[in-house]
Amino acid sequence: MFDKAIALTKMIIGGISIVAAASLAGLYTFQNRLVYPSWAQNARNYVDTPDKYNLPYKRVILKTRDNIQLEAYDLHYNDISGDSKTTVLILCPNAGNIGYFLPIIEIFFRQFKTNVFIYSYRGYGNSTGSPTEKGLKIDADTAIEHLINDDFHKDKKLVLYGRSLGGANAIYIASKYKNIVDTVVLENTFLSIPKVIPHMLPKLKYVVSFCHEIWNSEKEISNCSSETPFLFLSGKKDEIVPPEHMKTLYQLCPSNKKQIFEFPKGFHNDTIIQDGYWDIIEKFLEENRFI
Ligand SMILES: *[C@@H]1O[C@H](CO)[C@@H](O)[C@H](O)[C@H]1NC(C)=O
Ligand SMILES: *[C@@H]1O[C@H](CO)[C@@H](O)[C@H](O)[C@H]1NC(C)=O
Ligand SMILES: *[C@@H]1O[C@H](CO)[C@@H](O)[C@H](O)[C@H]1NC(C)=O
Repeated sequence: MFDKAIALTKMIIGGISIVAAASLAGLYTFQNRLVYPSWAQNARNYVDTPDKYNLPYKRVILKTRDNIQLEAYDLHYNDISGDSKTTVLILCPNAGNIGYFLPIIEIFFRQFKTNVFIYSYRGYGNSTGSPTEKGLKIDADTAIEHLINDDFHKDKKLVLYGRSLGGANAIYIASKYKNIVDTVVLENTFLSIPKVIPHMLPKLKYVVSFCHEIWNSEKEISNCSSETPFLFLSGKKDEIVPPEHMKTLYQLCPSNKKQIFEFPKGFHNDTIIQDGYWDIIEKFLEENRFI
């Protein structure tokens, strides 16, 4: 009788821990699906190419040190005219794929006359693998190693342009490759993932301690060079990343040449179409002699 009770208790406890383990595993997967929704909007099945905008490009496959293949588009300004001393590395947000960036590629390429390099993170678009912070940081290392060894790009000035999760990648790169990165443009990026989740999904605030994807830009930005110019573009109506995150990143940034612009009507994903957005970027790149 007593033994039976113990056995039953063991069974129940065993059952509970299986359920707990299952829901933790679920939380792990769920968290990755939430932080990296590369699966959404059919973005894994179809990736537009620069052909759509009549932009000349080379398709490059980068191989990471852990054997992931990343698809990249490489656009050389001298393929259409003259020369450009600058390469813009575009770092994408957490949804969509590099095809979504064609209108932005076109602005940098045709209007600002820069070279452009853009790659799909692992698990996005046509790249293999699945996304994690550790993996995306390897991808960033791979892209930078490619650019500094590439005959065409190695002597160009390097501008990073990152939105949201792309901003976190840009901050990682700028803090790690201080002598390689010449300037950074950030839009609606965050202090860290754990600091965004309670705002995005209040019900998840109790599970933030289970968060394994951190992207600690708050810490990494303090470790960037004071010599690197930074431009912060912040939508004041951002409903996903509280705009205070951009303000704090701006304050923590040790750059001697930093500027912040706030767009009173900008939400998370439409700050880019606010009045003046591209003029501000153009002026900033001109002032710092990148274009
Ligand atoms: C990209 O992936 C899609 C879907 O898997 C495929 O149809 C397409 O051919 C790929 N593009 C290239 C250039 O490999
Ligand atoms: C700061 O960046 C350098 C590389 O530029 C790195 O070696 C160092 O560990 C970083 N420090 C911190 C506190 O992250
Ligand atoms: C902006 O994001 C919302 C979801 O937050 C989405 O429904 C909408 O289509 C997006 N708009 C654009 C222009 O991407």
